[in-house]
Amino acid sequence: MFTYSTRVSLESALQEVRNQNGTIGFVPTMGALHEGHLSLVQKASNECDAVVVSIYVNPTQFNNQEDFLKYPNTLEKDLELLSEFPKIKVFVPSSDEVYPKDDSYEPIDLGQLDLILEGKYRPGHFQGVVHVVRNLLQIVNPHLAYFGLKDFQQLAVIRKFSILNGDETQIIPCETLRDSSGLALSSRNLRLSEKEKVDSLIIYQTLLKIKEWRLLHSPEEVKQMAIDFFNDGALKLEYLEIIDGTHFVTLKDQWTTNGVCCIAAYCGEVRLIDNMYCE
Ligand code: PAJ
Repeated sequence: MFTYSTRVSLESALQEVRNQNGTIGFVPTMGALHEGHLSLVQKASNECDAVVVSIYVNPTQFNNQEDFLKYPNTLEKDLELLSEFPKIKVFVPSSDEVYPKDDSYEPIDLGQLDLILEGKYRPGHFQGVVHVVRNLLQIVNPHLAYFGLKDFQQLAVIRKFSILNGDETQIIPCETLRDSSGLALSSRNLRLSEKEKVDSLIIYQTLLKIKEWRLLHSPEEVKQMAIDFFNDGALKLEYLEIIDGTHFVTLKDQWTTNGVCCIAAYCGEVRLIDNMYCE
C-alpha cells in the first residue's frame, strides 16, 4: 500500500493507472476509520482498478471548534486497516495541499439543503463539505466517488454540487453499516462509554418504530409519536424530521415513496446522526 501527502506525488501515481485505462475510485474520509468506512473501501475495491482513500479532518466543515479539536485521530491504526486491501492509495494531505493559495472556489447555492436538518443546525457545515470535496475531487479526478447514506443530506449536497458543476465523477451511494445492536457506526462512537452506546440505541429503535407506525398514521402524527418515544430515552434530541428524500421538504399529511426520517441527538457531548427510509 502506498501513502501520499502531496498532490503532485498522488497525480503521478494515478497517471500510471490512467495510462492503462484503469478505473479510479475515491473514498474521502476524515479518518478514525471503522467498518462503515471500510465497507465503502471494499465496494470501491470491487468496482475499480485503483482506489484512493483520503484522510483529512477538514476544519472548514466544523461549525463547532470544540468538535473539531476533539475529532479522533487514529492515523496509524487507519493505515493498518487499509493495508488489508489491495489497490489502495492513501492520500493524507496537509491543509496547504487541500486549500492552495490559488484556490478559486466560490460557494454554491445549496437552496433548501442548507436550510433544514443539518443545514439549519450546523450553519456553514455543508459549504465546508462542498469546498473540501470539490478540492479533493480536483486533485484525485476519479471516475467514481463513494459516499455513505449514513450522511444522507451530505450525499444529496454532493450530488447537487456535482450536477451544478457539471462534474463527471459518478457519485456512488453506499448503505449504512450498523453494529449488531443497530447503532450506526461512526467515528464519534469512539467518544461514547459502553453505557452511552446502549443509551444511543434509542435512535435506531425510534427509526424502526417509525417504519411500523407509518402504516397506520400520517407523517405528522408519526413525528410526534416518535419524538415522545425518543424523549423517554437518555439522549437530547436536536431534531427529528420526516422528509421527502428527493426534495428535502417535511412530510405532513401524505407519505411519498421516498420518505426518510432523519435524527440528530446528543449523547452527553457527542452529537450523533442517523436516518432510515420509511418504507
Ligand atoms: P467521514 O465522517 O469520515 O465519513 C467518510 C464517509 O464514510 C462518508 O461518505 C460517510 O457517509 C461514510 N460513512 C460514515 N459512517 C458510515 C457507516 N456507518 N456506514 C456507511 N458509511 C459510513 O463524511 C465525511 O467524513 C466528510 O464530511 C467528508 C466527506 C470526508 C468531507 O470532509
